[in-house]
Amino acid sequence: MTSPARILVTGATGAVGGAILRRLTSAGHDAYGVSSRGGRSPRQLAWRIGTEEPPDALRGPWHAVVHCAADTRWNLSAEASEQANVAPLRALLKWMDEHTHLIHLSSSYATGLTGSVAATASDAYRNTYEWSKAAAERLIADECVTADIVRFPIVMGARADGYLDRYSGFFWLPSSLCTGAVPALVGDPDAYLDIVSTDDIAEHIRQLVGADRPAGVRLSVLGRGAGAPRVAKAFHTLLAALNSWRAENGVPELEQLRYVSADQWNRFYLPFARAYLDRAQLLRVTAFQAYQSYLSITDPFEVTHQTEPITSTLYRSIRRWAETHAATARRVPRPWCP
Ligand SMILES: NC(=O)c1ccc[n+]([C@@H]2O[C@H](COP(=O)([O-])OP(=O)(O)OC[C@H]3O[C@@H](n4cnc5c(N)ncnc54)[C@H](OP(=O)(O)O)[C@@H]3O)[C@@H](O)[C@H]2O)c1
Repeated sequence: MTSPARILVTGATGAVGGAILRRLTSAGHDAYGVSSRGGRSPRQLAWRIGTEEPPDALRGPWHAVVHCAADTRWNLSAEASEQANVAPLRALLKWMDEHTHLIHLSSSYATGLTGSVAATASDAYRNTYEWSKAAAERLIADECVTADIVRFPIVMGARADGYLDRYSGFFWLPSSLCTGAVPALVGDPDAYLDIVSTDDIAEHIRQLVGADRPAGVRLSVLGRGAGAPRVAKAFHTLLAALNSWRAENGVPELEQLRYVSADQWNRFYLPFARAYLDRAQLLRVTAFQAYQSYLSITDPFEVTHQTEPITSTLYRSIRRWAETHAATARRVPRPWCP
C-alpha cells in the first residue's frame, strides 16, 4: 500500500468509529468519516447509508472502508435491525469498487447462543442486534472475495483517560446503579465479562489498513479471552470508580448489590415485581432483564488477538462517564421496594 491511503470510516461519530478515525488520521492517512447526521469537521460527512445516495464528495477510489455504522440497540424489531445493520452493508458493497479493502466491525456476541454466525433463526441469538450482526457477517462471506471481519466484546474508552465519543450500551449499568433501577445483579459472579478499549480496536484497524488485503474473508477476534475479568471483579471495579467520584463530590457511596441467579430472579423476584411495582419500575426491571445472559457467560471467547489487561481502563472509563454525566452520577438511589 502507498501511504497515505484514502480511507472512509462509517459510523465515525460513534464510540468506536471516532477512535478509529483519529487513529488513522494521526497515522498519516487521508481519512474521512460518514455518519447519518455528519460530524463537526469538514472531513465528517452526512450519509444515511442504505436509505440515501452518497454525497458527491465521497466519490472513490477508496483504499479501505472501515464499516463501523450500526444501531447497537437490542430491542429493535427484526425488520428494523435488519434495516439498521444489514441494509447499510448491502448498500456499501454495491457502492465500493473491487479494489477497496472492506474492514467490517462486528461483535463477539454475533455468534449468539450457538457459538457460530451460521444460524439464521432468531432464537439462536440473545436479541435482534446479535441476529442482525450475524446476518451481516454471512452477507460478507457470501458476497466478498476479500474482506476483514473484526469482532470484539464490550467497549470501554481510551486506555489513558477513559475518553469515549459516545456512551451507550454497557453504560446503562452505571446509570442504573446510580438511579436505583438495578435491584440486584442477576448473573454469575464467576462468569466472564470480556472488555476491550477503543485503543485496542483502533490500533488493530491501523495495522489491517497498513497491510495487504487478505486472500479471502479473514476473521479477527479481539479480547482478553480466558484472561477476561470475571463479573464480580468488573462490578467491583465499576463500583469503586463510581464511589471514588461520588466521594470527591460529596455524594454518599453506593452499596454493593447482591447477586442472584437468573433462575432465582425469574422464579421469585420477577413475579413479585410484577405484582407490586408500578409501570415505570416494571419497565426498568424488564429492560434490566436483557443483561442477564451477558452476565452469565461461563465459556470465555476464543480470541485471535489477545488484548492487554483492561481493569484500569474500565475504572477510568467509568470515572470519565461520571464526570460527563454528573447529574446522573450524583443521584442517590431510592431503595428498590414496592
Ligand atoms: N459499543 C460496544 O460495546 C460494541 C461492542 C461490540 C461491537 N460493537 C460494534 O462496533 C461498531 C461501532 O459501534 P459503536 O458502539 O461505535 O456505535 P455507536 O456509538 O452507537 O455509533 C454508531 C454510529 O453509526 C452511525 N450510523 C448508524 N446507522 C447509520 C447509517 N445507516 N448510515 C450512516 N451512519 C450510521 C451513527 O451516526 P449518527 O450518530 O449520526 O446516528 C454513529 O456514528 C458496530 O458495528 C457495533 O456493532 C460495539
